[in-house]
Amino acid sequence: AQIHYFPETTSTMDEAVNLARQGCPDFTVAVAERQTHGRGRMQRTWLSADGGLFFTVVIKPAAMPLMQAGLVNLAAAIDMAAVMREIHKVDARLKWPNDILVGQQKICGILSQMNTEGDHVDHMAIGIGLNVNNAPETEEAVAISLKGLLGRPVPRREILLAFLERFETRIAAFDAEKVIGQWRESNATLGQRVCVFTFKEKVEGTAVDLDAQGGLILQQDDGTRQTVIYGDCFHR
Ligand code: BTN
Repeated sequence: AQIHYFPETTSTMDEAVNLARQGCPDFTVAVAERQTHGRGRMQRTWLSADGGLFFTVVIKPAAMPLMQAGLVNLAAAIDMAAVMREIHKVDARLKWPNDILVGQQKICGILSQMNTEGDHVDHMAIGIGLNVNNAPETEEAVAISLKGLLGRPVPRREILLAFLERFETRIAAFDAEKVIGQWRESNATLGQRVCVFTFKEKVEGTAVDLDAQGGLILQQDDGTRQTVIYGDCFHR
């Protein structure tokens, strides 16, 4: 991977756009010490307090069908959760679609952007924000950092490099079924009663499975099933 380090930027998502525009190679990474305009999913702000790990990976998968793009996001969450379990022995689990939780608290969020070329992915920018040594600034106690969990400062570089190694290998030989299998193994959503807010509606039910594209299949109270492909998911 080619890694570009920025002491300060608006958002590593912006740096990713610049890098892609300049024709960067596959698997180029922008990592920032500080983001002045960090972005989250669903038009939210990502508060980027000092000590967090903020980076975006630009991938240019050769001939990846659009159908698989959602699985790339799930794969990023799977790989980051695995790194956290492996290096720091924390019980990192996935909340659909690609948040990482420890217990009920969020420790990592992923935001991605996709550029398409016909029915294929041209490039994707996968942005990851991991609470490492920062105090997560949220109103409620919904977030936690590695430092908060382990009671000591944690080096960020080791986590970044371990993640990039895993994720690069994964993308080079992308296996959709393996992603779905691994997500099933490390998720905290399936079996739960959930409420998902999509752009236009609210869907409630029991999360029963993932579909082939990484959508969440809900069993509603009237017995019908509905699949949501995007949205904010709340465990009840
Ligand atoms: C979310 O859970 O809403 C996704 C948060 C993604 C945050 C990361 S930090 C690095 C990259 N740059 C951004 O502005 N956002 C992503």
